[in-house]
Amino acid sequence: MGKIILTGDRPTGKLHLGHYIGSLQRRVQLQNAGDFDKMFVFMADVQALTDNADNPEKIRQNITEVALDYLSAGLDPQKCTLYIQSMIPELAELTTYLMNLISVSRVQRNPTVKTEIKMRNFEANIPLGFFCYPVSQAADITAFKATTVPAGEDQEPMLEVTRELVRRFNQIYAPVLVEPEIMLPENVVCRLPGTDGKEKMSKSLGNCIYLSDDEKTVWKKVKKMSNGAPRMSMEEPGHLECNAVFTYLEAFSTPEDFAEFWPEFQNLDELKAQYVKGGIGDGTCKKFLNSVLNKMLTPIRARRHEYEQDIPEVFNILKKGSEEARAFAAQTMDEVRKAMRIDYFSDAAYIEEQAAKFKI
Ligand code: TRP
Repeated sequence: MGKIILTGDRPTGKLHLGHYIGSLQRRVQLQNAGDFDKMFVFMADVQALTDNADNPEKIRQNITEVALDYLSAGLDPQKCTLYIQSMIPELAELTTYLMNLISVSRVQRNPTVKTEIKMRNFEANIPLGFFCYPVSQAADITAFKATTVPAGEDQEPMLEVTRELVRRFNQIYAPVLVEPEIMLPENVVCRLPGTDGKEKMSKSLGNCIYLSDDEKTVWKKVKKMSNGAPRMSMEEPGHLECNAVFTYLEAFSTPEDFAEFWPEFQNLDELKAQYVKGGIGDGTCKKFLNSVLNKMLTPIRARRHEYEQDIPEVFNILKKGSEEARAFAAQTMDEVRKAMRIDYFSDAAYIEEQAAKFKI
């Protein structure tokens, strides 16, 4: 078996520039480089429901949004399998078996789960499904024998749990599952701050630029972006600390963008050097950033527009992807059941042996 990439997102909201720079862009590159034998990208609706059990409509609506984001960002159903987690019941089955191989206290130690429990005020009342989601995530990964999981640092604890479960499964039963490794983002800016310059782009803080935002909306948001400590005039030295405009330029601008939109400078380092000396207005920086973002978003918007006009085709793609993914997971489950000695009906020798044992 070759190299297999697998990754996904909880469909709890539209994807934004943070998702793009942190993962989507990389996925498209990986898909196009073709160095892997297979690539699976999925919407983790089952996982999303673990902390949204009372709001299934939110997940339902965001399946379409995220599918449109995937396709418009350039994920190509000819090159990667796009699917929906809940359409693969084999994952629930594998989760059940993996749960026998891990202790409650081991799951409790997971730092990502701990943070999430605090964030969601679950301390007094943790839904069991939510508590167990790291095991379900291990099933997501191992059912597809994924070798490589592109994800953020916060997913490393899930990968650790997955590897432990694989080792235990293979040791107790038979070497069926594959130990995956994480593939961390390599960009300089892997955690894009919000337009307010705060920690992280997040829907609840209302500081996101979405892949689906039109030109007008992007400009409105860029105009309001924070640019570090205030200055009385543009002649004063500019400040790069907590300057969201420059963090975004760091993440998105290229020398080609400078050649096209701001030829006075060859690259960001030159602009920065001048900015901290003074004489560069924040408005001008914002206009440049706006051009950079729109240049990147224009082809994404065009693709999105096309798919939006053919939503049934989007669901066709997801349905076909889910069928393909399910066939793959079903194959793994055959091996899992065999290894676990629960393949009663397909093991003729077992039936014969039982027959001999009871025949007088
Ligand atoms: N936990 C991931 C997130 O919150 C989503 C996810 C579920 C995932 N299963 C996965 C990511 C398997 C990678 C591999 O974004």
